[in-house]
Amino acid sequence: MLTTQFLKSRTSTRDFKDIKLDEGTLEKVYKMVDEEIVKLGKDDLAFIVQSDGESVYKALDGLAGYRGVMIKAPAYLALNTLNDNPASLVKGAYGVEELITKLNALGLGTCWITVSDVDPEVKKSIFNYDGGHLNLLLAVGYPVDESVREHQFDDRLGIGEFVYMDRLGNSATNEDLEQRGLEDIFAYARFAPSAYNAQPWRFVVVDDLINLYIKDYKGDVNLLDAGIIMYYIDKLGESISMGSNWEIEPKINNDEYVYIASKRL
Ligand SMILES: Cc1cc2nc3c(=O)[nH]c(=O)nc-3n(C[C@H](O)[C@H](O)[C@H](O)COP(=O)(O)O)c2cc1C
Repeated sequence: MLTTQFLKSRTSTRDFKDIKLDEGTLEKVYKMVDEEIVKLGKDDLAFIVQSDGESVYKALDGLAGYRGVMIKAPAYLALNTLNDNPASLVKGAYGVEELITKLNALGLGTCWITVSDVDPEVKKSIFNYDGGHLNLLLAVGYPVDESVREHQFDDRLGIGEFVYMDRLGNSATNEDLEQRGLEDIFAYARFAPSAYNAQPWRFVVVDDLINLYIKDYKGDVNLLDAGIIMYYIDKLGESISMGSNWEIEPKINNDEYVYIASKRL
């Protein structure tokens, strides 16, 4: 499937079949998680796979998820950041989104679950870790509805609402982006998941640089949103051989727009 089509049909799964992940699938999941953490940096991040979904669900129901509505799944993947560097969280979210691509290839659906309000001691007892912070959870399992769903456009920002030229607030037009070969990339990147579907990412294209900001920064959850959309931009950029890496240097402050990272075209 074309990358664009694939990312367009990538939607959150909230209803999972009541079937455990079989041994063969679990082995593949462990392997891909191990490979990903080597890429991301073992000093900064760790992944924890919990294949006893039932116990995680019971322990977190009423505590995790939007307004305590926990998503029931046969397995969960947790991301543990081992330091307080905001860049680690951005990188971790990027890595999880990359893992989702591989999990989807195994026929598994996923949904991100907010765990920021859960007491760290509760999280520690469920996931058996000592240090660091457990900032996100991914529900993993076989979707009840296996049909490929396409996103509706009506719950996503228009390109000019989140892509700017030269300076913040100066909306990019389709022509601006077409000239630079970026129109399709942003047209599809807006389907990236974000907490509460808030789509807080804002891009400023300056010459051959793409700068990423978060509007009305609300904390760690937006660093996850940032890492996710960076993955989408990279994946979509492969079609125009945009191979550069993101320079991740979040500058957290109280400004309306918080700078996160930039990337050369
Ligand atoms: C950091 C993050 C946290 C999220 N937390 C939850 C959650 O707790 N519960 C939930 O149902 N969906 C959660 N989501 C899923 C988003 O609501 C969903 O991605 C968004 O509404 C867009 O829908 P889509 O993924 O189907 O395109 C989360 C997404 C992100 C990126």
